[in-house]
Amino acid sequence: MSTQKTWRVAVLPGDGIGPEVVAQATRALEALAARDDELAIECTTFEWPSHAWHERHGESAPADYLDQLAAFDAILLGALGDPGPTSDPDRYLLSDAVSLAPLLEIRKGFDQWCCERPCRPLPGANQYLADPRAADIDMLVIRENSEGEYVNQGGRLAVGTPHEIATQVALFTHRATERIVRHAFEQARVRADDRASDGRAREFGREARASQVCLVTKRNAQRYWGDMYTEIFARVAADYPDVDTHHELVDAACMKFVSHPWMFDVVVASNLHGDILTDLAAVLNGGMGVSPSSNINPSDRSRPPMFEPTHGSAPDIAGRNLAGPAAMLLTTAMMLDWMGVEDPAAARAAERLRTAVSADLAAHGGEARATDAIGDAVIGAL
Ligand code: IPM
Ligand code: MN
Repeated sequence: MSTQKTWRVAVLPGDGIGPEVVAQATRALEALAARDDELAIECTTFEWPSHAWHERHGESAPADYLDQLAAFDAILLGALGDPGPTSDPDRYLLSDAVSLAPLLEIRKGFDQWCCERPCRPLPGANQYLADPRAADIDMLVIRENSEGEYVNQGGRLAVGTPHEIATQVALFTHRATERIVRHAFEQARVRADDRASDGRAREFGREARASQVCLVTKRNAQRYWGDMYTEIFARVAADYPDVDTHHELVDAACMKFVSHPWMFDVVVASNLHGDILTDLAAVLNGGMGVSPSSNINPSDRSRPPMFEPTHGSAPDIAGRNLAGPAAMLLTTAMMLDWMGVEDPAAARAAERLRTAVSADLAAHGGEARATDAIGDAVIGAL
């Protein structure tokens, strides 16, 4: 054993298919650590936040759960929401706003201001678009994850009456806009370098630049934050003359994600726009079953980031060993990437895990296989 850092991971399986897919992720982490003496990861699993905890205690998690999580280096979360099975009409149910609240509290509580959702379909994944160029899609959607439409400010007046009024305030700050836009440009450079070293260089715009950042707004109808985003984007872009720039209105972006998604590189969007665009991007990537996601704080590595797949609890298939674990495993690889910035053993493990998941998908994509059977195959290949 070397003097390598031991990474402390809080594992939150959550609800529905969460525990089933998380079980494969923790097995994979054990297998990766077993084959590399220099990788040290210590997982601690919590029963909260979850529906089950709420059923027993009247709340999704203990009151001090954020303090407990603060002691960890990273958080690995399966899914939150209706645990299913949907065949049980008497199952304990909570409103989405209650069951999913911990997700937003964790993102906010640890200032995980950046959500990264890569979209690069792996061979073997479902391809929903008929155009063969869909196999070349390679984009990264970067979602502002700390404010915007998700600040949860507002209220309801005269509730239930014909005079009812609801307000839902969206809030955008210079600080959060500038940091997310700058991060998008930084990632564009990283991606250009990766493509150059893999012999996959691309060209964007009239100047044939090696990468691009596309800003998404709705500035034709929502001019205040739209104009602020546009101005800050232009100022930050001036620091990255090697990166091409582009803008799309969110409705047109949805259209172009379907008509020619292979044109995009890095896409930066507000919290809600990013949320919507990344469900669409997940389909382009082969579906929710293969789409990873991360919630990170790139400016403060001392606060735990949270890694959770884009998918939810899938109550219709929960508890039946049917869920595809690839999204969770690829999300775990994103966690290892994040650790890999400081720890070469974690960087190696990320690569190994991603290679094993990719190979399994290429060999068996499209086959109906059990959750644990896919886990066995991937872990066997590690
Ligand atoms: C996501 C989810 C969440 C979000 C929900 C569950 C609150 O849709 O992670 O994309 O909107 O952020
Ligand atoms: Mn979403």
